Amino acid sequence: MTLSAKPRVLVLFGGRSSEHAVSCVTAAGVLEAIDRSKYEVVPVGIAKNGQWSLVSLDPSQWSLRSTVLPEVPVSPESVVLATASDGGAAQELVATATERMPRSLGAVDVVLPLLHGPFGEDGTLQGMLEMADIRYVGAGVLASAVGMDKHYMKVVFASAGLSVGPYEVLTDREWSRNRSGCLERAGKLEFPVFVKPARAGSSMGISRAASPAELEAAVETARQFDPKVIVEAGITGREIEVAVLQGRGLDEPRTSLPGEVAVQPGEHEWYDFEAKYVDGAAAELSCPADLPPDVTDRVRALAAHAFDALGTEGLARVDFFYTPAGELIINEINTMPGFTPISMYPQMWAKSGLTYTELIDELIELALERKTGLR
Ligand SMILES: Nc1ncnc2c1ncn2[C@@H]1O[C@H](COP(=O)(O)OP(=O)(O)O)[C@@H](O)[C@H]1O
Ligand SMILES: [Mg+2]
Repeated sequence: MTLSAKPRVLVLFGGRSSEHAVSCVTAAGVLEAIDRSKYEVVPVGIAKNGQWSLVSLDPSQWSLRSTVLPEVPVSPESVVLATASDGGAAQELVATATERMPRSLGAVDVVLPLLHGPFGEDGTLQGMLEMADIRYVGAGVLASAVGMDKHYMKVVFASAGLSVGPYEVLTDREWSRNRSGCLERAGKLEFPVFVKPARAGSSMGISRAASPAELEAAVETARQFDPKVIVEAGITGREIEVAVLQGRGLDEPRTSLPGEVAVQPGEHEWYDFEAKYVDGAAAELSCPADLPPDVTDRVRALAAHAFDALGTEGLARVDFFYTPAGELIINEINTMPGFTPISMYPQMWAKSGLTYTELIDELIELALERKTGLR
């Protein structure tokens, strides 16, 4: 273990995905709120080119104070995680620079990855941490990878008995070899349809196609983000979300009160990128959602079931459509949901009795408590 009594927490943020700046803003919130009397914080940023380096602990450096988006700079000194030289349980952080001897920055007890999207939320980073035998917050390799892929998450959800809407998957190979066949297959879905990159987030690359004539252009748009595309039949319903937190020890997952995202009638027909990040008035987030008590209970139970269906650890936000017929259709699971203090996930916990600081604490404790290796 470390020499200091406090666990050393490596807060990891930035990253190679298009959600780099969002990740920095999350880090600002976490660095501000994390209990420094309990944990020693080691801030490590991943630059857009993939370089890891030790960065400022000052939250204001990463917040959205000005119009300039925060970004992790490239540094003359990189850091890497290495197996501790004393063979102990903790891993060591090592700084390296050209023409200098590597120097140890001490042991790390747990990693808190605040990364969204590919190369952060999709199991790749998690695999790296598993290889290094280091504890980390959040879902493992499989749950992260399945939760990132809108196709495979539906396969798993459906086999676990959850309701998923009708969909078609268009792989790169099928699209390249038989485009008309793809269009014919997707064209049989009930319109409008939602055309999405299979592995993206923040509504990026998603379009709503009102008729088969709009399908081809929508698929090309999605393919700019991912060669694998999913086409889904549009579902009419309210968007209801639940925050899930792993239980302690052998306990069941804990669920928050459900929240609702209501896109205001007007410019946005659905919860697109602009409505999420640009046009603040476009969507109203509320918690608890105004639902009959039995529906609240049902959606919370379904969210916990979805969490377990993937073998998720740590945290996840599970999103549903609540249809006029009273059906709850699952839309997606996010294993690293938006996590700034004003994001839906922390807000739903705040309304359910857990503050942002307590939530961060709970996530770190869960990660420290869990075993490395197969579990
Ligand atoms: N099948 C669907 N029917 C109706 N609306 C949808 C459907 N799929 C997505 N949407 C709308 O698009 C938004 C973004 O889609 P989503 O699958 O959640 O992508 P992301 O992972 O980028 O958040 C949803 O919040 C919802 O407003
Ligand atoms: Mg979503």
